[in-house]
Amino acid sequence: MITGQTRLAGVIGFPIAHSLSPVFQNAAFEAMGVDACSLAISLDEDNLENFLNVALKTNILGFSATMPLKTKLASLVYCSERAKKLEAVNSLVWADIDQIEIPGDYRYVRDDKALIGDNTDGEGFIRSIKEIGVDPKGIDVVIFGAGGASRAIIAALAESKANSISIINRSPSNGMRAVALGGDIARLGSIKDIAKASLIVNTTPVGMVGNYAPWSLDSDLISNYQVVVDIITSPLKTPLMHIAASRGARVTNGVGMLIHQGAVAIETWVGKRAPIEVMKESVEKYLNQNLN
Ligand code: ATR
Repeated sequence: MITGQTRLAGVIGFPIAHSLSPVFQNAAFEAMGVDACSLAISLDEDNLENFLNVALKTNILGFSATMPLKTKLASLVYCSERAKKLEAVNSLVWADIDQIEIPGDYRYVRDDKALIGDNTDGEGFIRSIKEIGVDPKGIDVVIFGAGGASRAIIAALAESKANSISIINRSPSNGMRAVALGGDIARLGSIKDIAKASLIVNTTPVGMVGNYAPWSLDSDLISNYQVVVDIITSPLKTPLMHIAASRGARVTNGVGMLIHQGAVAIETWVGKRAPIEVMKESVEKYLNQNLN
């Protein structure tokens, strides 16, 4: 029941009406017995500071953030190590002020807590591939794209001791910025790198609903020992997934990463393990009811 004590959580971004975050956050809170309610709030960059002030006043439980707010948010709030490294925030969380070195004039402080920015995308990705049986340690990876999601994945794969990360990107300059996050195991790659990769990840919007740029990937490059992850969530089966599945590769979409990054965020807000199965079931039920 929503009462006077129920705390607000949710997700901010634009557009946000199709976000799955309220679906799995509310399911998680109910299963965890957390007195909180999750809402999707449509917000542009110009209103971020207003939102942060309201978040502080209303003592939010925590909030996720998505496009186009992640970079601006990182410039407004104190960032965790991983958010600082990525220059992107996808989760707002309370931290004990005696555990962090915030500047004396930091604005977003309430009693002995500070509202800070975190980034759970990388850990969410690693958990999502482990769940489908992929151990990132020692593997060769090809990543298409070098945007925010790609950067989080590259940093997390490097931390998980992948053997190599080949980044294939439209613009080499953005590609090089992403390479820098992978330390000495990352480099700009080419289509030729696909043959020796055991994991192939698409982080570009190519194939997303509304983005019909064709995949010019020769299907012969993909083999049945490979795992192909397309982090797109709509459609649920993307053109790349169709190509890879036709070659016998194991394929998965972005729902796993989305739920796991949300689970990592909830765990930092609540301090308890998030109920992954419950969260997944809630999303499946929602998608079944709303996509048919
Ligand atoms: P996100 O933050 O969600 O990862 P993003 O920052 O917009 O998204 O990044 C999108 C990535 O997809 C970028 O690497 C972009 O390439 P550029 O760095 O050259 O801009 C890539 N991308 C976007 N549209 C593309 C297209 N039509 N073909 C190939 N790559 C594309």
